[in-house]
Amino acid sequence: MLKIWSSPIRSGVRISAGCVALALSGASIAQAAVQTPAPNPYRIVSPPPALAKHAMVVSIHHDASDAGLAILKQGGNAVDAAVAVGFVLAVVYPQAGNLGGGGFMLIRMHTGDAHFLDYREKAPAAATAGMYLDAQKNIVPGLSTSGYKAIGVPGTVAGLVYAEKTYGKLTLAQVMAPAIKLATEGFILPDEAADNIRTSRNLARFPESRRLFQRDGSFYKGGDRMLQPELAATLTRIAADPATFYKGAIAEELAAFVQKGGGLITPSDLAAYEVRDRAPLYGKYRGYDIVTAPPPSAGGIVLLEILNMLSGYDLAHTGNRVADIFSKTMTGVTAYDVSRSGDRTPQQVHLIVEAFRRAYMDRANYLGDPDFTSMPLQQMADPAYAAAWCKSIQPAAPSPSATLTRPAGFLPAPSRVPAASAHESAETTHFSVVDAEGNAVASTYTLNGLFGSGVTAGPLGFLLNNEMDDFTSKPGVPNMYGLVQSPANAIAPGKRPLSNMTPTIVLKDGKVLLVLGSPGGSTIITTVANNIVSILDNGLNVQQAADAPRFHHQYLPDVLQVEKAFPLSVLDTLKAAGYAVSRNDEADEKNPGVWGDSEMIYIDPKTGVLMGGQDQRHKFGKAAGY
Ligand code: DON
Repeated sequence: MLKIWSSPIRSGVRISAGCVALALSGASIAQAAVQTPAPNPYRIVSPPPALAKHAMVVSIHHDASDAGLAILKQGGNAVDAAVAVGFVLAVVYPQAGNLGGGGFMLIRMHTGDAHFLDYREKAPAAATAGMYLDAQKNIVPGLSTSGYKAIGVPGTVAGLVYAEKTYGKLTLAQVMAPAIKLATEGFILPDEAADNIRTSRNLARFPESRRLFQRDGSFYKGGDRMLQPELAATLTRIAADPATFYKGAIAEELAAFVQKGGGLITPSDLAAYEVRDRAPLYGKYRGYDIVTAPPPSAGGIVLLEILNMLSGYDLAHTGNRVADIFSKTMTGVTAYDVSRSGDRTPQQVHLIVEAFRRAYMDRANYLGDPDFTSMPLQQMADPAYAAAWCKSIQPAAPSPSATLTRPAGFLPAPSRVPAASAHESAETTHFSVVDAEGNAVASTYTLNGLFGSGVTAGPLGFLLNNEMDDFTSKPGVPNMYGLVQSPANAIAPGKRPLSNMTPTIVLKDGKVLLVLGSPGGSTIITTVANNIVSILDNGLNVQQAADAPRFHHQYLPDVLQVEKAFPLSVLDTLKAAGYAVSRNDEADEKNPGVWGDSEMIYIDPKTGVLMGGQDQRHKFGKAAGY
């Protein structure tokens, strides 16, 4: 259609059959436009990545990264360090770090052995498909997001204990020691956390949460030391006898507390909880191997679909840029001129967004807990399917979501899912670890919303999740992330809600190259995809990729969402091409103008130097290495 932007889609070395026609049709636009290359005004102000020779831990909180590093120096491996980080974040990052939530840990040992530990929450036995609907079958606002009925059976303690016992080298007591110390002696509360605690409506609803986190209205300030004696006692009990959380005294106390508040969790729900040690999903992108999250996360399969579609385009050459920067920047540590890459050029954003849109359409229709639902995963990950999808991508215009037709002959017929509106995301947290042997851990865990359900488990001193909102409360009605979902993700007793969390490890010639993941609800998968493209295609270093302004599309609502730092001229070009856009420019509690948190490690394949990308959106994280 219009000559909206001046960047060519060139036929790259890995162009797949389905995308050739498109690539060639893009070339005519390019030829006309290449005489007048528009400068790309886009800049990222990033510090150089942190460097280490042997091992590294990157997380959103410096106390957690330091604890992980100390465990590595004590002789622990990446799993020991990751478990230590997980427990410490439950103390120092209560917005998302947790004992009362759930998550995933992707482990890739240097031997090549890889495991995806699924410690996602489960629906209690008394849960029913319609539990968040009123008599008229309408969703009762807030019931799945706040308070006791929103709480799923927590998996974090089981997951961390399983990881430690199965893949760690140290003892549980050793890896829990830093968390117990920080809960007992206190830690210095960052400004952001103090603000989050002060403004959280969920926390304010519950007396125990007010007592513990808000000191009954006398709010913590940034710089205050926060002590958590109840949490310290609970951690000490778990370290001495981890079974107590699910089959002993803690299980009894927790269930009694939740039931008193009107929640569903019983001692037998806790006793029945089990971690799943699953096989990760594998895919390829530009010669790299992608190891990623299987269901019950939608993350990995949607990521692979996106990357399969993008494999059909020579993204490095979009934007009139020469992508000869790759080798130079990946070994160097100084900032370079990002504007010379295709990163965030209109043409590249357009292609990526169209891949996002199509892959999220499949998310909406097919995915759920693999223990309950059969899913066409192989077909979804088939490069031929991606190539067929690419045929519908226009060179310079959006494809409205309402008009998208899935390529025939690949997937079974889906259930129909109606339209939705946009929502913002809250909190989860991701951390990455690589040890000196080359073992790697990518871990993302969550309470779901900021401070989860807002309910603190009374004298046990820890917050409980609101993960039940990740289920389909009613097919076609969006959850708190604006995601519409299918009956495959309906609530059922003992079922795990569908997640987006996408802990991922990228390999080059069998060795770990990149460890990554992010929070951000529905934006998690696109954040991970953007990071992979920024690093592998565009040659950004890992810190620049973490800091680059994000963009997101999730099929429904049919809106291109961008962070407030996204270049306005690029946005204008995309608008002119027909995109409906939403820019997070007005910060408030629900919309901070940014999303996600990339805590990544890149290992230079030539030198073996580890580079940490600590997302500068949050000022209290750390890439700690030696
Ligand atoms: O599992 C999921 O996809 C969500 N519960 C994650 C929530 C999240 O990332 C919120 N954070 N920003």
